[in-house]
Amino acid sequence: MGFMLAAAGSAVGLGNIWKFPYMAGQMGGSVFVLTYLVCMFVIGLPILVTEWLIGRRGQKNPIHTMEDVAKAEGRSANWRWVGIIGVLGSFLILSFYSVIGGWATDYIFLAGKGTFLGMNGEGTNRIFSEFLGSVNHLLIWHTVFMFATAVIVAMGVSGGLERSCKIMMPGLGLLLIGLVVYAAVVSGPAFGQAFSFLFTPNWSALTGEAVLAALGHAFFSLSLGMGIMMAYGSYLGKDVNLISTARTVVILDVIVAILSGLAIFPLVFANGLQPGKGAGLIFVTLPIAFGNMTGGTILGVLFFIFLTFAALTSSISLLEPTVELLEEKTPLGRKSATLLSSVVIWALGVACVLSFNEWQNVTLFGKNIFDLLDYFTSKLMLPLTGLGTIIFAGWMMNQETIRRELNLSPALFAGWKFLCRIVIPIAVIFILIYGFMD
Ligand code: PHE
Repeated sequence: MGFMLAAAGSAVGLGNIWKFPYMAGQMGGSVFVLTYLVCMFVIGLPILVTEWLIGRRGQKNPIHTMEDVAKAEGRSANWRWVGIIGVLGSFLILSFYSVIGGWATDYIFLAGKGTFLGMNGEGTNRIFSEFLGSVNHLLIWHTVFMFATAVIVAMGVSGGLERSCKIMMPGLGLLLIGLVVYAAVVSGPAFGQAFSFLFTPNWSALTGEAVLAALGHAFFSLSLGMGIMMAYGSYLGKDVNLISTARTVVILDVIVAILSGLAIFPLVFANGLQPGKGAGLIFVTLPIAFGNMTGGTILGVLFFIFLTFAALTSSISLLEPTVELLEEKTPLGRKSATLLSSVVIWALGVACVLSFNEWQNVTLFGKNIFDLLDYFTSKLMLPLTGLGTIIFAGWMMNQETIRRELNLSPALFAGWKFLCRIVIPIAVIFILIYGFMD
């Protein structure tokens, strides 16, 4: 149970509620959504199982786990690089994750002050643009969020946070369902429009970029390719059924994302907003709903509190690997290791804050710092480490032991092997090439 809470706590977060809808909006809707669903079940699920399986064997941090398991299988210790790139990825992701976590936290207060009362899309757009333009404001909330993450990690009390999520997560789920119903009732035909935007295949919008984004988001959303799930695997008992546990986590993660999309897009269409608006999408759409429904102030406050909690259970899992590594490789204790890594991540986050305003025009390959960090991690590092993990499990490890560990019949295992050895590596390589050529 504790393990499930930690794994689901890491997986469900801003990725589902903030990132999924805005990417779907930018990448042509259903093409992105459908590819994401396929990637979640066909690629994400087996890699999740594989990370847990390797982690359960290694019983250490991802870098040493990869090294030890590789050696035990008679392979090169260089497989540790899968772990090293993973830790680097978690470090980079946290720098922008904390900035967005700060937005969610600030919106608790904006909603509480009744800022959105009676507002339409124009109003919420204006509030959000003012918010983005105010460097101090963004900096304060990024700092608060990063500080909270660091305190929880330094004191080693993430267990407490995860337990409180037993209330917060169902609360978030219920509110999301409520918002979907609200959107369906008030937005009339826009709900149908949103539904077909998200689910009616429009293969003409299929681009390499959209497919790569969907793959990257499947990794991001399941916290894969960073050794995080590998680290959690070390807490798994031998008798836990990896495949069915992974299936539960994937389904939960997908449901939260889809609910979020169904709550947001009807509002987008009913209010004449742009689906491809980008990173601010949920912050301009959901406030319209909270500003116009009865009890919207209190529901808005609750929603952003739950969202902040969901973000915190993900951010602690993002900070943990770097802290553990520093603790092991340097004489630093847990508190100093946390302080050092948080300060560096925070500073990188400051650059990310500035990329929304003063450094808007500072770009590389046509991308500002925020986009660059996101692009580099989700679309490059995560798929590459995921690829490394699955190739390692499929080609380097003893297959009969894996079969017994997964408790699969020889026939089913043949299918599993085909998936891990051939289908997933080829698909990931193909998507990477296709995506980068686009
Ligand atoms: N999966 C988390 C989310 O969806 C984000 C995350 C990514 C957490 C990578 C840990 C590692 O918000």
